[in-house]
Amino acid sequence: MTTPRTVLITGGNRGIGYAIAEEFVAQGHRVAVTARSGSGPAGTLTVIADVTDAASIDAAFTEVENELGPVEVVVANAGITRDMLLLRMSEDDFTSVIDTNLTGAFRVVKRASKGMLKARFGRIVLISSVVGLYGSAGQANYSASKAALVGFARSISRELGARNITANVVAPGFIETDMTAELPEAQQAEYKKSIPAGRYGSAAEVAKAVTWLAGDDAAYITGAVIPVDGGLGMGH
Ligand SMILES: NC(=O)c1ccc[n+]([C@@H]2O[C@H](COP(=O)([O-])OP(=O)(O)OC[C@H]3O[C@@H](n4cnc5c(N)ncnc54)[C@H](OP(=O)(O)O)[C@@H]3O)[C@@H](O)[C@H]2O)c1
Repeated sequence: MTTPRTVLITGGNRGIGYAIAEEFVAQGHRVAVTARSGSGPAGTLTVIADVTDAASIDAAFTEVENELGPVEVVVANAGITRDMLLLRMSEDDFTSVIDTNLTGAFRVVKRASKGMLKARFGRIVLISSVVGLYGSAGQANYSASKAALVGFARSISRELGARNITANVVAPGFIETDMTAELPEAQQAEYKKSIPAGRYGSAAEVAKAVTWLAGDDAAYITGAVIPVDGGLGMGH
């Protein structure tokens, strides 16, 4: 049994974020999710926020703090893809992905760190991707944004580690969600062939790694990149 915490997950209205919220609820935590539309699973508080807008993040945190208490665990999960071959990738394709996936995580973690420093406790989990370190043709923007989260988490670990704040990265491989359903069939089949586990993962399997990193048993783990990828990214 782990200590019950107040948890905030960005992008908790569907996909991996939704599954992470479900798992935290199942383990007895106080759970809030951000959503731009829709809502989180049963037992969660849904707050409206867009990670590209710092004011909306600030307002969401304030609402969660008022309803559930200071945020002790934050999961930066919201993310987008805008896949395109480099030659055809516009500057907007590149910067919009960076703005959501990387700067969005910065906005959320910076706001969360205020309360964590005061409490001298915090668990920060950033949802990256296997392609952050593996690379992926047609995903230069996405891969760059996800690789950058590793440097971000490791810098936070060095800066805030002595205050009992950990910052870790979870790097999912091919997980069955709306994001991967959009990939062409041929690309999906190609990926599957290269996964040692021989199958795609489920959002629930990612959620188990996230809750473990946020729990009491992972107190001495920080700056780590935990793959949940069936072996796809081994050695990267
Ligand atoms: N699926 C995979 O195989 C896979 C693999 C590796 C890593 N990941 C990462 O895991 C995370 C979740 O992915 P997923 O597969 O669950 O994706 P998804 O089903 O497409 O869901 C993405 C979530 O992010 C939210 N979001 C996007 N832009 C946002 C913004 N500007 N502000 C607030 N929320 C925003 C979405 O909200 P709306 O509903 O409002 O759009 C949605 O809740 C992402 O960071 C993704 O890169 C996924």
